[in-house]
Amino acid sequence: MKRAQRPDDLQPLHDPTFAAAVIDWQRQHGRHALPWQNTRDAYRIWLSEIMLQQTQVAAVLGYYARFLERCPTVASLAAASAEEVMQLWSGLGYYTRARNLHACAKRVVAEYGGQFPVDPALLADLPGIGRSTAAAISAFAYGTRAAILDGNVKRVFARVFGVEQYPGIKPVEDALWRRAEALLPESGIERYTQGLMDLGATLCTRANPACERCPLRLRCAAYASGRTAELPVRKPPKTTPEKRAAMLVVLDAGQVLLEQRADSGIWGGLLSLPEVDGHAALGVALPDVLASAQRFGAVDTIDALLPLTHGFTHYKLHIHPRQVALSQRAAPVDGFVWWDLDKIGAAPLPAPVKKLLAQLAAPSLF
Ligand code: ADE
Repeated sequence: MKRAQRPDDLQPLHDPTFAAAVIDWQRQHGRHALPWQNTRDAYRIWLSEIMLQQTQVAAVLGYYARFLERCPTVASLAAASAEEVMQLWSGLGYYTRARNLHACAKRVVAEYGGQFPVDPALLADLPGIGRSTAAAISAFAYGTRAAILDGNVKRVFARVFGVEQYPGIKPVEDALWRRAEALLPESGIERYTQGLMDLGATLCTRANPACERCPLRLRCAAYASGRTAELPVRKPPKTTPEKRAAMLVVLDAGQVLLEQRADSGIWGGLLSLPEVDGHAALGVALPDVLASAQRFGAVDTIDALLPLTHGFTHYKLHIHPRQVALSQRAAPVDGFVWWDLDKIGAAPLPAPVKKLLAQLAAPSLF
């Protein structure tokens, strides 16, 4: 069996020239004058990273300045009222971030004396700080060699390393984290981290990436194969499995033949139309229909009725009905009953079967 492709298969995990290329590029072309750069103040860095989690730089700038004016330290934020914090955040969106921000400030004051911890694992234990944000804060504030992997960086990696699977699933994400860690430079973590962010935000954009200006172009699998538009792979749509069933509508003397379903299963305990044995995945074969119908008598005619589809929560059922007329009825078969068509409204039938039979019987009966 072919082994599923893992991102690790394509290029060696450890490659110091990768970080060197990112760092060189950041020095020459990256962003250097953002208000949360050129500081080691963990509070200011943390605040910026939280604001930037789901919001672009341009939208953050004004909020960031106002926030710091009112709350210049983590202690002042911890002491502010919830209303004031929400007011300062109002308009930025994703308000869970504001509630977490306030809770985090209180914990940093209560548990760490107002000093954000250095260890990314301790940072990631605080409200609103995930693994990637923890690494960014620790790298920018303390120079810790820790890997980031936010949405932008995932996109850069998916393209450069030609990741052919959706990066949102756990094994792929795990592999990307391993790669992110293996690629960390020995020194210059701050510039490298900022460089990855800048690349993802300014060149390696989702639509129309500026590959001609990218320092990773010559090592980029997506660029080499012209697949930047296809990578990263989009989240696959939820697929519902589909099943098919051929059902007999055996009619005789104003009656329809119904089957008592076993107590278990989706239609347990209900009556339903008899199903043709064997699966109907490749269509409904006339000999199968005939063989099934002959248990109930001598078959006169078989006609296909319009198929109908019924959606269950976990799958779709395509019902292919075959109307059977008998020239002579056989002796009763265990588990099957003849039901008067004019009383079909009273039969305990599944909804799609009811719908099907409604097309045969007078509409007023339903
Ligand atoms: N997005 C997340 N963190 C960022 C940072 N430090 N600079 C610019 N954009 C960012």
